[in-house]
Amino acid sequence: MNKTCSLRRLCNLHEYLIKQHRVIRYKSNTCNDLNSFVLYDKFICERRSQSKCSVLVQVSSENSISDLYSYCSKFGSIKNIFHYQLAGSNHFVLTEFEDQSAVNTLLDQSTHVKDSNVIAVRSPFLWFRSSASKKNSKLLSTDDKLNISFQINQTMIEPNIKNIGLEKLDSLSDQMLLLLKCTQLNDIGTRLRFLTAMQIENSLKGIFPLSKVLPFGSSVNSFGKIGSDIDLVLMDSEIKENKTSRLIYHGKCMSNSRTQIQRNIEILGDLLQLFLPGCSRVKRISQARVPIVKYSQDFVGVECDLAVSNETAVNMSELLYIFGNFDYRVRPLVFTVKMWAREINLTNDTPGRWITNFSLTLLVLFYLQQEKIIPDIQTLVKQASNSDVRITNEGINCTFLRDVSKLHKDVENKKTLDQLLLGFFEYFSTFDFNTNAISLNFGKTINKPEYSALYIVNPLEVHFNVSKNISSEEMERFRIELRNAAWIMESSLLNTNSFNLLDLFKGFDVNKKNQIVFEIQHQIKNSNRLVTVKDLFDDSQTQEDKRLT
Ligand code: GTP
Ligand code: MG
Repeated sequence: MNKTCSLRRLCNLHEYLIKQHRVIRYKSNTCNDLNSFVLYDKFICERRSQSKCSVLVQVSSENSISDLYSYCSKFGSIKNIFHYQLAGSNHFVLTEFEDQSAVNTLLDQSTHVKDSNVIAVRSPFLWFRSSASKKNSKLLSTDDKLNISFQINQTMIEPNIKNIGLEKLDSLSDQMLLLLKCTQLNDIGTRLRFLTAMQIENSLKGIFPLSKVLPFGSSVNSFGKIGSDIDLVLMDSEIKENKTSRLIYHGKCMSNSRTQIQRNIEILGDLLQLFLPGCSRVKRISQARVPIVKYSQDFVGVECDLAVSNETAVNMSELLYIFGNFDYRVRPLVFTVKMWAREINLTNDTPGRWITNFSLTLLVLFYLQQEKIIPDIQTLVKQASNSDVRITNEGINCTFLRDVSKLHKDVENKKTLDQLLLGFFEYFSTFDFNTNAISLNFGKTINKPEYSALYIVNPLEVHFNVSKNISSEEMERFRIELRNAAWIMESSLLNTNSFNLLDLFKGFDVNKKNQIVFEIQHQIKNSNRLVTVKDLFDDSQTQEDKRLT
């Protein structure tokens, strides 16, 4: 019997070490910890510069890429070429030049369609006319291919999670890492999001030279998925007054009132609908708490939400970005929980009474604060320096430490991803949502200030609840699903020491649970206790021990 136990312990240890090795290997392959932390402002600045050096060109087929390459090389040296295809067999080539001046020359020398029905608009979205003579086109030489990064058939559509090979990995932690790798927003997706923002920014430059359009939300907060929507905000850069200039622009006074914002949204809606190429299905939602224009950017194949002056949301994205990069376990855990919620229909693309991805992300972060894997926000506020002070136009204080690499300490908690996933479900399965509100600012619960089915204190506007939208029915459904998920995981892990993530995404199989419970009840004769998962485990251990001895 002792021999068997030591054997089992040895096997478990071996399995554990393999698991750890895989996780460590992944960790060393990613830039996702504080040693290589990139400041949010730097990340945004680099991506914006990239988009200023880029154009998106529609081509008739993949075969035109070399022709396009040689044509575009006339304007300046090319740094990167990405090709992708959208449904309807449209091929696109994102071409990045070394220098922005090349894009300006290219746009100056591009032409418009000679058709009085088509409005001539300057934008980074173009199409490539096939050459009258094939003589001019040359194939890419090997030298060309070596000099530039040339990437064909980039993924623009989220893969079906059933086809990414999750079932081939024994370790749940590895499955979570694979899920992240296959579904997270990729380089081309990020580039196109910044180009989509730049299209609007450029179109307004003539009249509003200080305006900029920034992506926020999951496109930049490190929790974005291939194909998730683009949240954009139009805002003004800070005015750097030139004291020596004696000529000052005349201007009109503008209020930041809700009515003014609603009117701006209407005007932006018209601009997108009437003039900007690729923008379709424009809807002005000016009555919402945060008025937005919704539209589709057809060349990129994504849905966009454009808001005006929502500076707090930009700061919120930075806060989430910091947490997402704090520890390598944060993002795979958030991705898995969001995917679980989507697959079992807890979340929905349309806003409503159900829990949102944003609330789910905050719940995962709160749980990781309990595990002391990430800090509470107060710690970031206390450590802020002068350069971190940000007060928005609306007077919201968004001051917190930006360069968290200064905070770097070895995190003592070494739990694996599978332990954390189970921990998340267990923690919230028994959480008292009725009396407690969740405060990421303090990293602990506080008494609910008012009735709401779920109360998550808005980290930047602490008098608001970010999950106010959730109805009691949806909250009850969420709680049941948390318990079910914990149950599914516990019973499988304790029993077989393995777990397939897809089983979690299938949701809860009532029949299977009833059958297992029935079997155990049958075995635990003369017992008045309730059947627990531990019973299931103990029972299977006994059977296993019997088999081995
Ligand atoms: P996806 O589902 O991947 O799009 O996640 P997301 O984080 O981008 O969510 P969404 O597009 O719904 O919202 C974009 C951003 O707006 C979020 O990241 C938050 O910063 C902010 N946001 C969303 N919902 C709320 C809310 O209820 N309250 C507040 N204050 N901000 C919100
Ligand atoms: Mg979003």
